[in-house]
Amino acid sequence: MRAVIAAEPGGPEVLSVGELPDPTPAPGEVVLRVAAAGLNRADLLQRQGFYPPPPGASDVIGMECSGTVAAVGEGVDGWSVGDEACALLAGGGYAEQVAVPAGQLMPVPAGVDLVTAAALPEVAATVWSNVFMVAGLKPQETVLVHGGAGGIGSFAIQLAHQLGARVATTAGTPDKLAACAALGADITIDYHEQDFVEVLREATDGHGADVILDNMGAKYLQRNVDALATEGRLVIIGMQGGTRGELDINALLRKRGAVIATNLRGRPTEEKSAICASVVEHVWPLVTEGLVQPVVHGTFPLAEAAAAHALMESGDHSGKILLTL
Ligand SMILES: NC(=O)c1ccc[n+]([C@@H]2O[C@H](COP(=O)([O-])OP(=O)(O)OC[C@H]3O[C@@H](n4cnc5c(N)ncnc54)[C@H](OP(=O)(O)O)[C@@H]3O)[C@@H](O)[C@H]2O)c1
Repeated sequence: MRAVIAAEPGGPEVLSVGELPDPTPAPGEVVLRVAAAGLNRADLLQRQGFYPPPPGASDVIGMECSGTVAAVGEGVDGWSVGDEACALLAGGGYAEQVAVPAGQLMPVPAGVDLVTAAALPEVAATVWSNVFMVAGLKPQETVLVHGGAGGIGSFAIQLAHQLGARVATTAGTPDKLAACAALGADITIDYHEQDFVEVLREATDGHGADVILDNMGAKYLQRNVDALATEGRLVIIGMQGGTRGELDINALLRKRGAVIATNLRGRPTEEKSAICASVVEHVWPLVTEGLVQPVVHGTFPLAEAAAAHALMESGDHSGKILLTL
C-alpha cells in the first residue's frame, strides 16, 4: 500500500509517499481502506521525532481516518466488509489501509460524507471525554475554550453551546473570532490584544470559568487558575506554550479548583473504545441533526502531506485539515 513516510525527523519536507506492506487484522481488529485522514498537532511533533507512537502502534503518522471496512479480524462483531466508518487510531492514518481495534471504529453520522467524517474522531473523542466525561461541564456553566478556531476548539464551542453552556473562547485574529461567534461562542477574546482573565471576569460578573479546555500548558497555567470559578476544573490537553510552569497552589486551593491533564492516544484500547461508544451515543445525534458540524479548512491529496503539515504549522487554518486518498 502507499503510505506517508518520514525519512528522518525534521520539517514538513521529510514527508514523502512510499510503499509499505498491507496490514492484516489481528483478532479484534478490522482493516479500513482509508478515504481520508485528519491532521492533528501531535502529528507535527511525531514528524519532528518528539512524539513516538505508543508501543505496538504503526510508525506511520495519523491518529484518525475515515474509510471502508476491507477485512474483519477474528472475534469482531457488528462490522462487515464494505461498511463505512471513521476511526480513532494510535497511528497509521496517512496510508491506504490501516488496522484498527473494532472498538475504536464509529459509524459515519448520517448527513456527513465519508471524506468529511475523517475530521470527527479526534475532536469528538477529545472534547467529549475531557469537557464532559472528565470535567463534567453542566448546562448554564461557563466554559473557556482556548484556541476556538482550531480543530478541537471549533468542535468544543459547538458542543458546549448545544449542551447549554455559556462559551468563552480565545483566538488570534478578528476573522477567527467572528468564526467562533458564528459557531456559538458568547464571549470572544483576542489573545494578542486582550487579557482573557480580565475579559472573562468582567463578562461573568467576577464568576470566571467553571471549566477551561486548555491547549497552551505552561504559558497559561497561572492565568488559567486565575480565570477559574470556585470549584472550577482546568483540563490541559496541549503543550503549545511549554511543559514546565509554576503555579500558586494557594490560589488553586482557595478556589477548591482542579487541574487535570489528559492524553487520548496513549490510553488502553478499552478506554478509547468506551470513549468512542460514549461519543456515538451522545455526540453523533447532534451531528446527525446538523447542530454540531465538522469544520474543515481544506483537503490535500496524500502526496501533499508536506504542504498540509506546513499549513498547520503556519497557523493560517481554521478547523480541520484532511488528507484524501
Ligand atoms: N491531549 C489530547 O488527548 C489531545 C487530543 C487532540 C488534540 N490535543 C491538543 O489540542 C490542541 C489543539 O489541537 P488542534 O488539532 O485543534 O490544533 P490546531 O487546529 O492547529 O489549533 C491550534 C490552536 O492553537 C491556538 N493558539 C495558538 N496560540 C495561542 C495562544 N497564545 N492562546 C490561545 N490559543 C492559541 C490557535 O489559535 P489561532 O488559530 O486563533 O491563532 C489554534 O486555534 C493541540 O495542542 C493538540 O496537541 C490534545
